[in-house]
Amino acid sequence: MNAQAIVYTSATGFTGRYAGLLAEASGLPAHPLEQAVKALDSNTRVLFLGWLCAGNIQGLARAARRFDVRAVCAVGMSPPDPAYIAKLRRPETLRETPLFYLRGGYAPERLRGIYKPMMAFMTKAVTRAPAKSPQEKSMQEAFLSGGDWVSPEALAPVMNWLEAGSLS
Ligand SMILES: Cc1cc2nc3c(=O)[nH]c(=O)nc-3n(C[C@H](O)[C@H](O)[C@H](O)COP(=O)(O)O)c2cc1C
Repeated sequence: MNAQAIVYTSATGFTGRYAGLLAEASGLPAHPLEQAVKALDSNTRVLFLGWLCAGNIQGLARAARRFDVRAVCAVGMSPPDPAYIAKLRRPETLRETPLFYLRGGYAPERLRGIYKPMMAFMTKAVTRAPAKSPQEKSMQEAFLSGGDWVSPEALAPVMNWLEAGSLS
C-alpha cells in the first residue's frame, strides 16, 4: 500500500463517504483530520481527501504540515474536468503529489454557518440566466435541488494508486 491511513475533511458527508469506501476496499483506517491529529504519528504516510470550497482543498495545508501526504483527492460538485483540476490550489510542497478529483454531491439542507450564504449567493449567480447547454442546465438543477454523485467506480484510479505501492 502506498499509504498507512486515510485522512479527510467533510462538511456535509460526501467526502466522508468516499473515505469510508476507500477504507473498506483497502483495509486502511480512515480518520477525520481533527481526529487524525490526535490518533496518528506526525510522520504517517497518508492519502488525504478534502472537500472543495471556492477552489481550495479544505484541510490540505494543515494535513501537509502534520503528515506525510502521499496523494490527494479533491471532492467537489463540479463535473470532472482536467482544466479545472489543474487550477486547484495546493501547497508548494505538494505540487508533484498525485491529485485525484472525485465528484461528491451537494446537500444545501446540510450546510452550516457561513457556507449557507456563500452558496445562496453562488446559486443566484449560476441560475440568473437561462442555461445555454445541457451541462449548464444540470448544474443549475444541482445548485437548486442538490445532487449525489458519489460512486465506488470513481475510486478505481485512487485504489490503483494505493495498491501500486509496496509500503506495508
Ligand atoms: C461554500 C462552498 C464552496 C464550494 N466551492 C466549490 C468549488 O470551488 N468547486 C467545487 O467543485 N465544489 C464546490 N463546492 C461543493 C462541495 O465541494 C461539494 O458539495 C462537496 O461534495 C462537499 O463535500 P462534503 O460533503 O464532504 O463536505 C462548494 C461548496 C460550498 C458549501
